[in-house]
Amino acid sequence: MKRFKDKVVLVTGGASGIGRACALRLAAEGASVFVGDVQAAALDATAKAARELGAACETAPLDVTEEDAVREAVAACVARFGRLDVLCNVAGILRFDHTHELSLDDWSRVLAVNLTGTFLLCREAIPHLLATRGNIVNMASTAGMTGHAWSAAYAASKGGVLAFTRSIAVEYAGQGMRANAICPGSIETPIKQAFRIPEGANPKLVRRIMPLTGFAGPEKVANLVAFLASDEGSHITGEEIRIDGGALS
Ligand SMILES: NC(=O)c1ccc[n+]([C@@H]2O[C@H](COP(=O)([O-])OP(=O)(O)OC[C@H]3O[C@@H](n4cnc5c(N)ncnc54)[C@H](O)[C@@H]3O)[C@@H](O)[C@H]2O)c1
Repeated sequence: MKRFKDKVVLVTGGASGIGRACALRLAAEGASVFVGDVQAAALDATAKAARELGAACETAPLDVTEEDAVREAVAACVARFGRLDVLCNVAGILRFDHTHELSLDDWSRVLAVNLTGTFLLCREAIPHLLATRGNIVNMASTAGMTGHAWSAAYAASKGGVLAFTRSIAVEYAGQGMRANAICPGSIETPIKQAFRIPEGANPKLVRRIMPLTGFAGPEKVANLVAFLASDEGSHITGEEIRIDGGALS
């Protein structure tokens, strides 16, 4: 399938895990991809893999919390490829803490990367997406849909991503731009290194987030992103889709 032939896609968090899988899946389907991440060396590896698939690929070292860097990255993408059709906001960080021990700095950083970063990318990209009748896919989490112990900042940020996504979906639907959110759970990526049960916590609470069908690789999420972002998803906007092996079923 070449659902993204002649399309331009910008992916954040594309150096690793789900972001990398999305960039490569869309590249394999014909997209030109622009990939940003804070991990410069790993970003180069994603670009190399995308080019091996025959795609045009550019990268930018990008901290999604930095307003100027976000502005420059979106401008560089459009300057290089002439348009923007799909924005995938995938960059994210996770922390596990007892909420009564969580520092303001850590709370603020999680909100800044996961929620404010998503806003900054969308704000810069929306004018270009309106021009192409394009769409946005934001990576939320099951943590934004239900209570997750020890990750209140993360859950708040992802709940914010869901509310933000619904809002822009409504605001811009009449102008032909779509926005959807995906809520993964239990996907095997390096983010799981952040998982730890805080000292003294009740380990039984972990059961609440265990998948019924086992863990899955990030390409499962990329499959869903590719469908939603393609014309096959053209009647879907303002939606949040769970992909969690049945954990919240
Ligand atoms: N893996 C899961 O089970 C799971 C579940 C729910 C949601 N998610 C979400 O999926 C997204 C991708 O996570 P992943 O599982 O692939 O983890 P990952 O750690 O492999 O990927 C996250 C990427 O974001 C990048 N990043 C972090 N801070 C950044 C910043 N300030 N600016 C730019 N890039 C930054 C990292 O360098 C990394 O490449 C995240 O938003 C995460 O919250 C993952």
